Amino acid sequence: MSITSFPGGESLSRLASPQTKVTMPALSEMKRQGKPISALTAYDYSSARLVDEAGIDLLLVGDSLAMVVLGHENTLSVTMEEMLHHTRAVRRAVRRALVVADMPFGSYHASIAEGLNNAIRFVKEAGAEAVKIEGPRIELARALVDAEIPVVGHLGLTPQSLHRMGGYRVQARTAVAAQQLKTDALALAHAGAGAIVLEGVPREVAEEITAELPIPTIGIGAGPGCDGQILVFHDMVNLTFAPPAKFVRRYCDAGALIRSAIENYREDVERRAFPSDEESYHLPEAARRALGSQLAPEAELNAGDAVVNQDALKGWAR
Ligand code: KIV
Repeated sequence: MSITSFPGGESLSRLASPQTKVTMPALSEMKRQGKPISALTAYDYSSARLVDEAGIDLLLVGDSLAMVVLGHENTLSVTMEEMLHHTRAVRRAVRRALVVADMPFGSYHASIAEGLNNAIRFVKEAGAEAVKIEGPRIELARALVDAEIPVVGHLGLTPQSLHRMGGYRVQARTAVAAQQLKTDALALAHAGAGAIVLEGVPREVAEEITAELPIPTIGIGAGPGCDGQILVFHDMVNLTFAPPAKFVRRYCDAGALIRSAIENYREDVERRAFPSDEESYHLPEAARRALGSQLAPEAELNAGDAVVNQDALKGWAR
């Protein structure tokens, strides 16, 4: 366990800057004002804090968790319990962003009642402020909104439809399919959805839908004409282990950075260069004398020892 970092501990900057919480109605207002909506996925406390503190508007606990965090081949196997567990961790980190939980495959496909119950679990047990559902599930969207649960729709390339689609393929590439997508998006909006993710569709189609829809569109692989953009956290920082999709822009190479840090650490351990004396705790002089220790006198109480939070030390000593 780390005794130098404190879960829930507040950085000064976090305490000093009161922020306006992003809500679902606020996203619609952003669309009205022509302000782009920034969105990212996150799945745990530390990444969610980074995303939130960087000012991202919407944070999705995506079912992409299955692939980028849990190492599954696709998103289909992630469970309600796993999604709840990660949503709770994210919720504890976030102060400003809208926290949206992705309903996993199978949690809303059998019946409206089951979808409703599972969505309620996300709100009640994990603190989600909205849920995302894939596909034009108009009746379910209406039932969720009736139950006071804000809904984000997800149309176009919907990864939970992987087997029906026959792979991850760009959708709405014909006039008929584009028209159907627009009809579905409008139906979701009329059912009360607060925003719609458009994934893997031609930019021209996304632009037209965005122009016609009263609610914001958030694009991923849908071109620049959407009201907002979302990426998978691990894609944008290069923590994935496969070539990126065309629409991914990598903003840093965290994979290379972390790999090299780990290699440096391993080398330091192997050549006994870590930890140093400064990174060690020391016995106070009196205790050392009482023990008859032969340790060097300069190992007197190190200034660093006093820096450690006493409450944390109590936990560590247990
Ligand atoms: O699960 C996910 O990360 C998503 C985004 C790609 C929108 O659904």
